[in-house]
Amino acid sequence: MIKIAPSVLSADFARLGDEIADVTACGADCIHFDVMDGLFVQNISFGLPVLASVRKATDVFLDVHLMIDRPVRYAQRFCEAGADLVNCHVESDTEENTHSALSIIRRCGKKTGITLSPGTPAEAILPFVRDLDLVLIMTVYPGLGGQTFLHEQLETIRSVKEILSAANPACDLEVDGGITLETAPLAVEAGANVLVSGSTIFHSSDRKSIISALRSAAV
Ligand code: DX5
Ligand code: ZN
Repeated sequence: MIKIAPSVLSADFARLGDEIADVTACGADCIHFDVMDGLFVQNISFGLPVLASVRKATDVFLDVHLMIDRPVRYAQRFCEAGADLVNCHVESDTEENTHSALSIIRRCGKKTGITLSPGTPAEAILPFVRDLDLVLIMTVYPGLGGQTFLHEQLETIRSVKEILSAANPACDLEVDGGITLETAPLAVEAGANVLVSGSTIFHSSDRKSIISALRSAAV
């Protein structure tokens, strides 16, 4: 079953609660929440207080993507603010601190995710693989919505899928960036089962159709 995760980075922030309610009613399986700190990536998006407000406004599963430097410093606070799953970039800290971040997330009773930017090899998940609920493969460089899908990342998706099939078959494999009706089937064919999509969903005038089209384009 393919899950669709609209990224609220492309939502109208002045109406965030309504935007989330709308895409949920249109069939979204979870909400993808992109946190940027102006350091790990150039942009700054939103953080803890916005997540806490969103948590009060919805029961939908919140998939938090931390594009921040040394996420171990904030893992507990994002869990307490309402994340259901917290993704940490493998490039954003040492292996030891990433292990610590995952333990904190686990202790808080939340799901764990590791994210790979373009250029990071699939093997980077190996030290953590048995401790993960989800691996997120970026199909654009993190930091901005509306970019073009990087086809070279299909090979990384395939390699991660192979590692997960052997070591942690229950782990979800999510892709993020440039997902459209054309690229969704490619990502799924390579092994992804969770599709993040920001601009394709939020900029559509018929979100229900686009969510179901993304899901079925991907079959
Ligand atoms: C980029 C973010 C994405 C972004 C995707 O750094 O992680 O989640 O919102 O946007 P689209 O789907 O427009 O590429
Ligand atoms: Zn994201």
